[in-house]
Amino acid sequence: MDLLLKNRIALVTAASQGLGFATAQQLSREGAHVALCSRDEAHINAAVDSIRAETGNPVLGVRADVTQSGDISHLIDRVIDEYGGLDILITNAGGPPSMAFTEVDDAMWHEAVDLLLMSTVRLIRAALPHLRQSTAPCVLTITSISTKQPISDLVLSNSVRMAVIGLTKTLALEMGGEGIRFNSILPSWTETERVQELLEARAARNKTSLEEELAKQASSSPLGRVCTPEEFAKVATFLVSPVASYLTGNMVSVDGGTYKGVF
Ligand SMILES: NC(=O)c1ccc[n+]([C@@H]2O[C@H](COP(=O)([O-])OP(=O)(O)OC[C@H]3O[C@@H](n4cnc5c(N)ncnc54)[C@H](OP(=O)(O)O)[C@@H]3O)[C@@H](O)[C@H]2O)c1
Repeated sequence: MDLLLKNRIALVTAASQGLGFATAQQLSREGAHVALCSRDEAHINAAVDSIRAETGNPVLGVRADVTQSGDISHLIDRVIDEYGGLDILITNAGGPPSMAFTEVDDAMWHEAVDLLLMSTVRLIRAALPHLRQSTAPCVLTITSISTKQPISDLVLSNSVRMAVIGLTKTLALEMGGEGIRFNSILPSWTETERVQELLEARAARNKTSLEEELAKQASSSPLGRVCTPEEFAKVATFLVSPVASYLTGNMVSVDGGTYKGVF
């Protein structure tokens, strides 16, 4: 199936590695003109070089911290200067630290809100005038399966991401009349650098090994394994493609059946 992504312009934030990188790479494989950002110039340049070398399609890298509103304005300006428009916005950010409720102070709560919620609000606000000019505009927020089934020691993620889900659904309702689609994708355990760090922290706490912690997560899925970044990226790429034109307001779990509820 042709996903109709050739020459579409897509911005993926927090994409020098992990889920963001895999999604930008997959979009480029489908012929999209991709822009990506992260906080570290060297990381983002390496990501751009790797995608461009594989696909030969245009790739723009911008150093931007999504917790900084000035960086977000600059990022959107660079995309428009380079490509002349924007069809697809995928909002991603790093994850907040792994902690229990009693370890978290007010400053940490505010940081998590800035990282997960306000970055999404500001990115969508800055992108909106350009999305309104597109013939197939859409926004995909990357959240977590923790919004359906809280994950232990991730109180910040479990709580603040719920607000991103609320925002995504609200905007799908508010802006459907303008033809702008809003969806969210809820990953569970996917083999990225962040997961490696989280499981190393758990292994230290539980006095186990990384392999044992990984095996525990794998067994929480009926498929008996964790997700690969490429499996995640293929779902994300389909959701933002013009082929998914009647999908909006959906919270799509990519969790290998880890969530045990019926709906
Ligand atoms: N992997 C999973 O299993 C999983 C499951 C559920 C939810 N999630 C969530 O999905 C998101 C991505 O996860 P991941 O596993 O791909 O993480 P990851 O491997 O740690 O990658 C995070 C990426 O975000 C960039 N980044 C971090 N903070 C940033 C900021 N403030 N501004 C711009 N870029 C930033 C990092 O690059 P720089 O260091 O260069 O900035 C890196 O490219 C996270 O929020 C995570 O909590 C992941």
